[in-house]
Amino acid sequence: MKPYRSIADWHALRDALGDRTLGLVPTMGALHPGHLSLVQRSQRENAVTVVSIFVNPTQFDQPDDLDRYPRQTEDDLALLRDAAVDAVFLPTREEIYPDAYLYRVCESELSRKLCGAHRPGHFDGMLTVVMKLLNIVQPTRAYFGEKDYQQLLLVRGMAQAFFMDVDIVACPVVREPDGLAMSSRNQNLDAAQRRLAPSLHQVLRESKDTESAQARLQQLGFDVDYVEDFKGRRLAAVRLGGTRLIDNVGIELPGHAS
Ligand code: PAF
Repeated sequence: MKPYRSIADWHALRDALGDRTLGLVPTMGALHPGHLSLVQRSQRENAVTVVSIFVNPTQFDQPDDLDRYPRQTEDDLALLRDAAVDAVFLPTREEIYPDAYLYRVCESELSRKLCGAHRPGHFDGMLTVVMKLLNIVQPTRAYFGEKDYQQLLLVRGMAQAFFMDVDIVACPVVREPDGLAMSSRNQNLDAAQRRLAPSLHQVLRESKDTESAQARLQQLGFDVDYVEDFKGRRLAAVRLGGTRLIDNVGIELPGHAS
């Protein structure tokens, strides 16, 4: 498994792949089994799988969140080697943002709601870097987890709006045995916060409506950014100390949230 650190090196490999199918799993590192489930899906569906690792500064609305974001590149590379990933793309900030972020992708409706209402500029930064990664890597398919449900909808919308020649593949949320959705940010929880965190999923599943879910979460000690129903799912973002957690469950059948 070769790490590619420059766009020029990556392009040399991309050209050599010819018309073999290529799956991209875009990540910000601090990899966990949720990421590996995307890798495995890509490996089943493509001849070649590449994982990108880039902690994208433009999608962090709080500088301390960017500082606290876990970085463990050597561990990530070992994990990806064990998972038999073909290539890793690890670009620098300078390579990704030669324009110093003067050019950016903006969506003007959904990106302003839900998480977007609490994290100004977050989705502009996320869409911009995903557009750049897709243009550089030129994958056949790109894999996104349903935990970041709003992100998934926005990436899919962007690919359609800009006629991008890529399939955006949605993969189910991967959970810890106690129900907590896997996330790189979970490592920032202290022991008491980690014990409380699975209640987010439990409350979303069990509450009859968003108001009662929000009240229950506040009672348990979460700072709640929002709980809202959107397109057949109940989505929430909460904070435990300095750590922001998001989750969502299906609500297609009343009383049968997943
Ligand atoms: O979901 C993430 O890890 C990031 O938002 C992504 C898609 C890699 C873009 O930086």
